[in-house]
Amino acid sequence: MVEKVYDGVSPGLESRINKERGYGEITVTGMFAMASALQLDQESIFYDLGSGLGKLVLFAALTCNVRRAVGHEISERRHVSAVAALAHIDSEHHPGISETVCFKQADFTQEDYTDATHVYLASLLYTDDTLVKVCDKLCASPGLKAVLSIRELPLGNPLLRKLPTQKQVSVRCSWDVERATSATLYWASHTE
Ligand SMILES: C[S@@+](CC[C@H](N)C(=O)[O-])C[C@H]1O[C@@H](n2cnc3c(N)ncnc32)[C@H](O)[C@@H]1O
Repeated sequence: MVEKVYDGVSPGLESRINKERGYGEITVTGMFAMASALQLDQESIFYDLGSGLGKLVLFAALTCNVRRAVGHEISERRHVSAVAALAHIDSEHHPGISETVCFKQADFTQEDYTDATHVYLASLLYTDDTLVKVCDKLCASPGLKAVLSIRELPLGNPLLRKLPTQKQVSVRCSWDVERATSATLYWASHTE
């Protein structure tokens, strides 16, 4: 379903540019692993910070029926593709999808996500400074339950006191078809 709504949205040229610029994304198998690890449900307010083409955001909305699914993406081209894919979703079969999903072209280090309950960070290439900024912002999210990040979050950051429990989760991503990528799940122990 998620891949289908991208028919005609991300054509050959986009794929080639993405390959050349090193764009990578979570695979559908990885999406299921992500959703299971984060325990996304109908109460979840899910953020994908660095949402690329928006596939994971649409997956969270369509497959996990989250309350809200938000993607922040800095690249205009990818953001436009995400918005186009959302427009391809049949709102008769998925009523409310346009209210559930929000794509924003933005630098997520400058944004507000105080309503987030669950966050995914495809942080492979994010700098230390970016991760610190995100963590500092997430500290101010009162309902935050879990974060899944490909790069480990900075040691000593106050967010780790809020989400003190950790485990490794395998997620399949397009940049390594041979092996799963290891991500770290951080969660508040009372949600175990
Ligand atoms: C590895 S891709 C992951 C896409 C998607 N989340 C997934 O897992 O399939 C990371 C994306 O983060 C975006 N990005 C990097 N830094 C960002 C920032 N500060 N604000 C918003 N997006 C950013 C990149 O442009 C890229 O599209």
